[in-house]
Amino acid sequence: MKSPIYWNTRIYEIIMKLLYGRTYEGRYKAIAEEVRNLEVLDLYCGDCKLADFVKNYKGADFNKIFIKSAKKRGLDVSLMDITKEKIPENECIVMQGSLYQFIPNHEEIIKRILKSAQKKAIISEPYINLANSKNRVVSLIAKILTKTSEPCDKRFTKQELINLFKKYNVTKIKDLGRDIMGVFEIKFKRDREKGIYKEI
Ligand SMILES: C[S@@+](CC[C@H](N)C(=O)[O-])C[C@H]1O[C@@H](n2cnc3c(N)ncnc32)[C@H](O)[C@@H]1O
Repeated sequence: MKSPIYWNTRIYEIIMKLLYGRTYEGRYKAIAEEVRNLEVLDLYCGDCKLADFVKNYKGADFNKIFIKSAKKRGLDVSLMDITKEKIPENECIVMQGSLYQFIPNHEEIIKRILKSAQKKAIISEPYINLANSKNRVVSLIAKILTKTSEPCDKRFTKQELINLFKKYNVTKIKDLGRDIMGVFEIKFKRDREKGIYKEI
């Protein structure tokens, strides 16, 4: 069963603000600075808060409640199970605070994102997690609260994320206080006519 945090966008926003405190807005602003005028596809978009900070926004998530509420806001969002469906090609693909859900298969998602991003991919992930708290009760509550569909007990450390980003030739790494953001400039573009990848 999904955690109550995913039952309503308002509850989600309140909990995120509590968790992130003074770094809450900064996590979106840092991504917006990297995106600039590129078209953004926010994979695992949650409450689509990022849409308040970027111009050309699209989102995708498999939570019907979040998608319905985003559509009411007039956002261009798709209901899709990203694990099963092809990630659409897009100028810039963003994945924020969601990679941990797919451990131990998280590298598959990174590869798929880098393949579908035409100009840039941005992966931003928390390294300070209550789920990692030494206090077992706090850790258990945090794990229950952030559970979506898969059991996800493990969380990344800062060094694990840096190593992971470097493995995929990250261009820039920025510490956002609670999250760490990896920016991947795509150096290969698809030559549509020939159906091959060409370095630009
Ligand atoms: C922890 S939330 C992060 C939301 C948002 N990116 C943020 O940073 O606030 C993870 C999101 O991933 C979505 N999700 C998990 N597995 C998914 C899948 N297979 N396909 C699409 N969305 C998925 C959940 O519905 C949830 O909205």
